[in-house]
Amino acid sequence: MRKNIIAGNWKMNKTLQEGLELAKGLEAALKDRSYACGIIIGTPFIHLASLPAVIDTKKIAVAAQNCADKESGAYTGEVSAAMVKSTGAEYVILGHSERRSYYGETFEVLKEKTLLALKNGLKPIFCIGEVKAEREANKQNEVVKAQLEGSVFNLPAEEFSKLVIAYEPVWAIGTGLTATPEQAQEIHAYIRSLIADKYGKEVADNTTILYGGSCNAQNAKGLFVNPDIDGGLIGGASLKVEDFVAIIDAIG
Ligand code: PGA
Repeated sequence: MRKNIIAGNWKMNKTLQEGLELAKGLEAALKDRSYACGIIIGTPFIHLASLPAVIDTKKIAVAAQNCADKESGAYTGEVSAAMVKSTGAEYVILGHSERRSYYGETFEVLKEKTLLALKNGLKPIFCIGEVKAEREANKQNEVVKAQLEGSVFNLPAEEFSKLVIAYEPVWAIGTGLTATPEQAQEIHAYIRSLIADKYGKEVADNTTILYGGSCNAQNAKGLFVNPDIDGGLIGGASLKVEDFVAIIDAIG
């Protein structure tokens, strides 16, 4: 059966020194404890290569927050999937709404990034979700369907099975507004049904689908008890050890 995961997304926060302190704090807080989920931290690129020296990456896996849509070469400022992989990172967050809206990442670009991530042995955490106006027009199902069809439903089943999906309603990200457990469960079940239609029930049942968007220690449990919510992608609350650990505890 599928794995529960709590993944942190540090976004553009923490200098190298601050990030290593945060990672060390998390390592210390989780040491000698058992927990029922996979744990991932999604850090800025600059932290990636230094993390294996301060955490046990078998217990706390590492994710990049992006990778290039090109293999290598003259692309100033970009970081390739192969480079990310060479640091020991296991995952890469792709399709985050901030990348889609601020950096113009299209379905096509995300399709390329996903292919390159997989080709280089990284597991994508692929984000989807609607903006406020789309939710108000009750178009959320159409939106997530198009996002999956546009960037990842081209993959063969074996490759798709390496993905983690993160449903993140854009109106809930960093706003303090969270989808209700009912809203989240409803769309998670719909996403799983789309995966089942495309790849069959077994692949769908084995796909981890995370919820993201103002998930915190207070509301996490109410979200995670739902059958189709397999953990969270956590932004703000991943920047403090106590908050992130409380969310890990909420998955039970
Ligand atoms: P948030 O961010 O928890 O701060 O809302 C979640 C995300 O964007 O991944």
